[in-house]
Amino acid sequence: MNSWLLHALAVMVVFCCRDALSCPKRCTCHFSAKTTEVVCPDAGLSHFPGDGLPGNTTSLTIQFTNLSVLTSQHLTAIPLLEELHLPGNKLSSLPADLLKGLHYLHTIDLTGNELRELPACVFHHAPLLNLVLKDNHISSIHPDWLPNNSNITWLDLAGNHLMKFPMPQLQSLIQLKVLHLSQNKLEELPVGCFDAHPALERLHLDQNKIQSLDVKAFSRSDNLTHVFLQKNRLESVPPAVFQGLKRLEYVDLSDNKLQFLSPGTLDINTNWVELTINPWHCDAKIEYLWRKLTMESLQSEPKCTAPENLKDRVIATLTRKEMGLPE
Ligand SMILES: *[C@@H]1O[C@H](CO)[C@@H](O)[C@H](O)[C@H]1NC(C)=O
Ligand SMILES: *[C@@H]1O[C@H](CO)[C@@H](O)[C@H](O)[C@H]1NC(C)=O
Ligand SMILES: *[C@@H]1O[C@H](CO)[C@@H](O)[C@H](O)[C@H]1NC(C)=O
Ligand SMILES: *[C@@H]1O[C@H](CO)[C@@H](O)[C@H](O)[C@H]1NC(C)=O
Ligand SMILES: *[C@@H]1O[C@H](CO)[C@@H](O)[C@H](O)[C@H]1NC(C)=O
Repeated sequence: MNSWLLHALAVMVVFCCRDALSCPKRCTCHFSAKTTEVVCPDAGLSHFPGDGLPGNTTSLTIQFTNLSVLTSQHLTAIPLLEELHLPGNKLSSLPADLLKGLHYLHTIDLTGNELRELPACVFHHAPLLNLVLKDNHISSIHPDWLPNNSNITWLDLAGNHLMKFPMPQLQSLIQLKVLHLSQNKLEELPVGCFDAHPALERLHLDQNKIQSLDVKAFSRSDNLTHVFLQKNRLESVPPAVFQGLKRLEYVDLSDNKLQFLSPGTLDINTNWVELTINPWHCDAKIEYLWRKLTMESLQSEPKCTAPENLKDRVIATLTRKEMGLPE
């Protein structure tokens, strides 16, 4: 063998093996037969760690760094990507067509960034199933942010600045099972807003400013198991709103403005209902709730707020006389 050939071979070996073990600075890489996972947790990181990023990366995590820019060019270099975790960075915008060419990407987590709006097409081009956008500053979402045939099952928009229920934006998500809209500024739920989501199982609407529920709000959501409505401004609940939900396991109505419940409201398949921190008014109208609490042993222990002489009494311990009912 001549020296030229030897040299060429040596270069090839170095190239191949450096590539095999390549990993960006400030990151750690884990190679296995089926996955290549890259984790970049360094607060000093302020640019996308493209240098040395293995071309076959399947999972990329960049967390709690100074990263503020992400482009589709960054991501097209890793076309086998399945999961992208970017919590706690400084991203304030995302380009349209961010996910071009990512035919395997099913999960994105952008928790705790500085996103304000989501432009048209931003999550097109990838077969997403899980999308987490929790704790950003999102107040505006383009109606065409997701493709019409999206198969998203888990969507988390909690902790943002949504003033209106994003009905047009969610309309095409017929596979949705888990929807988080907690900690926004929602005041109203438009009529029929969950009708497009027959697969819905867990609905998180807590910590908004919701004042009322439509009697048919959940009438198409047969698979609902958990409904979180605590910390809203509900003054009443339509008596039939939870009826017919055969899989229901948990309803949280605590910390609202409820004074009594109409007969029928809790004629449901579960006794795991949270009712505390409401201004319960313990007169004759509280009888239905009192019956439920005493006879079906609901797990919650709500107390009276009024009248004054019954303040802080546990409702289940009231006597008929105290409620002003004939004995
Ligand atoms: C990714 O590339 C590295 C280095 O070439 C290799 O060791 C690993 O098996 C590859 N992983 C996959 C999932 O293809
Ligand atoms: C992150 O960026 C900010 C502003 O650009 C800078 O002040 C800070 O030092 C950076 N943090 C680190 C850990 O590099
Ligand atoms: C949703 O799933 C269907 C059936 O598996 C598939 O044809 C379609 O391409 C998927 N949609 C997206 C956006 O990946
Ligand atoms: C998606 O659906 C909306 C409303 O149904 C429609 O206006 C739009 O043209 C559709 N987009 C595509 C790409 O099919
Ligand atoms: C409701 O759940 C059942 C059992 O998991 C499932 O077979 C059914 O497809 C679900 N319904 C919808 C509309 O997704």
